Amino acid sequence: MNSGILEIQDLEKKFGGLRAIDGLAFAVSEGQIKSVIGPNGAGKTTLFNLITGVFPPTRGRFTFAGKTLNGLKTHEIARLGISRTFQNLELFANMSSLENVMLGCHPHTRAGIFRAGLRLPGVRQEEKKIREMALEELRFMGLEERAFLGAKSLPLGEQKLLEIARALATQPKLLLLDEPAAGLNIRETETLSESILRIRKRGITVMLVEHDMSLVMGISDEVLVLNYGRKIAEGTPREVQRNPEVIAAYLGEEAGNA
Ligand SMILES: Nc1ncnc2c1ncn2[C@@H]1O[C@H](COP(=O)(O)OP(=O)(O)OP(=O)(O)O)[C@@H](O)[C@H]1O
Ligand SMILES: [Mg+2]
Repeated sequence: MNSGILEIQDLEKKFGGLRAIDGLAFAVSEGQIKSVIGPNGAGKTTLFNLITGVFPPTRGRFTFAGKTLNGLKTHEIARLGISRTFQNLELFANMSSLENVMLGCHPHTRAGIFRAGLRLPGVRQEEKKIREMALEELRFMGLEERAFLGAKSLPLGEQKLLEIARALATQPKLLLLDEPAAGLNIRETETLSESILRIRKRGITVMLVEHDMSLVMGISDEVLVLNYGRKIAEGTPREVQRNPEVIAAYLGEEAGNA
C-alpha cells in the first residue's frame, strides 16, 4: 500500500453550534479511487470545501504530498495539484465548452491573466497552447464535438463531464468529484463511470462523493462513510456494504441483504 497522498488528522469544522466535521481522520493513497458516502448533511461537501481551502477548519491538520495545506489559499492549493467539481454545476453560461475548459488551464501557463490583459508578446502562443490543452481534455472526456457550443446548451450529463474536463485541465494530482452522477440517467452514469476509471489510469487520485451506490461500489478501491461529520466506517466496498452501522445509518436493510 502506498503512503497517503492526502492525510487528514483530527479534522473539525463548526458552523456556529453545528459540528459539520467532527474529529475526522483518514488517508487517501496515491492512485486510488476513494469514495465518501453518507446521508444528506453528513459533511461530505464540507470536507471538500476544507480540503480546497474554501474555509479553514476549526481544528485539525491536512497534508498533501507531504506539504501541509493548513493556511493556504484556494489558488495555492489548486497549484499544488488539487482540483474539484461542484455539487451545483459552476459552468460559465455565456462561454463555449472550450472556453470553460480553457479557464481551467490558466494556473499552469506563464502568461497569466495580467500579461494577457496587456497583450504582451508571447501571449498569442500561450493562448494557442491553452487552446490545445483544453481541446485535449475535451477529447479525453468525449466532448470534442461540443467544443464550440455554449456550455449551458449541453445536456446535463455532458455538462457534468465538461466540468470534469475543466478540472482536469489544471493537470491535478488529486481530483475531487462532488456528486458527479446526480441527475444523470443510467447511460450517462455508465459513461461517467468509464471516465473516472480512465482518469485513474492517468495516475490521478480520485475522491468521489456520491449517492449512486452502484457507481460507488462498482469503481471505488475504498469507501469512507460519514454520519453527522464522523467516520462510521472505512474499507473496501464489500466491507462497508456489510457493516451493520452503515446499513442502519445509510444503506438500509436491502443493501445489507444483497
Ligand atoms: N457554509 C455553511 N454555513 C453553515 N452551515 C453549513 C455550511 N456548509 C454546510 N453547512 C452545514 O453543515 C452540514 C453538512 O453539510 P454538507 O453540505 O457538507 O453535507 P453533505 O454531506 O454534502 O450533504 P448532501 O448529501 O445533501 O450534499 C449541514 O448541516 C449543513 O447545513
Ligand atoms: Mg454535498
